[in-house]
Amino acid sequence: MSTDRDAVARALRDVAKFAEVLQPKDVDEPILAPAVAHAVHEWLVEINNATELAAVGIEPRRLALLYGPPGTGKTTLAHHLAARLGLPLVAVQSERLVAKYLGETGQNLGALFDLLRVLEQHCVLLLDEFDAIGQKRMEGDSSAAQERNQALTVLLRRIEGFRGIGMAATNAKSALDSAMWRRFGLQISVALPGDVERFAILRKYAAPFDLHDEAVDMLVTVTCGCSPSLLRQLMEGMKRSLVLAHRLHVDISSPVDVFGRIVASIAPPPEMEQPPLWADTRALGTLTGMDWPPARMDGAA
Ligand SMILES: Nc1ncnc2c1ncn2[C@@H]1O[C@H](COP(=O)(O)OP(=O)(O)OP(=O)(O)O)[C@@H](O)[C@H]1O
Ligand SMILES: [Mg+2]
Repeated sequence: MSTDRDAVARALRDVAKFAEVLQPKDVDEPILAPAVAHAVHEWLVEINNATELAAVGIEPRRLALLYGPPGTGKTTLAHHLAARLGLPLVAVQSERLVAKYLGETGQNLGALFDLLRVLEQHCVLLLDEFDAIGQKRMEGDSSAAQERNQALTVLLRRIEGFRGIGMAATNAKSALDSAMWRRFGLQISVALPGDVERFAILRKYAAPFDLHDEAVDMLVTVTCGCSPSLLRQLMEGMKRSLVLAHRLHVDISSPVDVFGRIVASIAPPPEMEQPPLWADTRALGTLTGMDWPPARMDGAA
């Protein structure tokens, strides 16, 4: 028994070459759209009730693909799901598997999946930035094409043999190989948050500052198209300004100035449609009417 534990501990240490291991205790609960929350809940029920499914001749689905724009919470969601199963998440940075010498990417994949054979019942797997290894076959017989195609063949075979619970995440789903796509029993779209989710995300990251509902509503309007990650940066920027104003000698009497400075220092990725706060200078002006400054819920001055 203890040799088993030793082998798992050793594999968890060795897998650090390709992956980060995220523990359940470090999880941050994501705010999800109802459809995504439902899909995740359904999958968890399925995984936790394998015996009932076995009685009718089916197994829980083992693999899910998470796709969506950058910063929408794919990695966070995978960590959350692993934590709900009480297991660490082995988050493989797929780019770390890609090598330039012929056959080396396939060898790295082989080494990874050999470790996963020991770990598969003791962790949840995430193949992050999955397009780096799961992209379409390349035409021709250049060495780059041979390398990629051989790696894809290895990956298809090794994923097929993986008996644990796994996910892959990508923000470039159209780059994925279609045979690879079909290996996943679930394909979950992790889209940009709607109004309701943006409201909750802004609230979450504004804490311990207590923005009034009307103020959050104003921010919801001007942040249409923002990812959760950008919303978090926006709220963290606000908190930084409020807390450090006296050290930075900046004026925080108007929300327009505070958010104006933040908007000038962070921006959505260029390939994404720009939210009003960045696309239209009038959007910033609408924040004049905001109830300001917000009080602190934790009672600190
Ligand atoms: N749904 C969410 N609710 C609350 N916070 C979120 C959510 N999604 C993302 N975040 C926050 O945004 C940050 C980035 O999220 P994460 O890395 O999970 O996004 P991602 O989709 O994996 O991005 P990428 O495509 O760049 O890999 C994290 O700090 C996380 O806390
Ligand atoms: Mg990610």
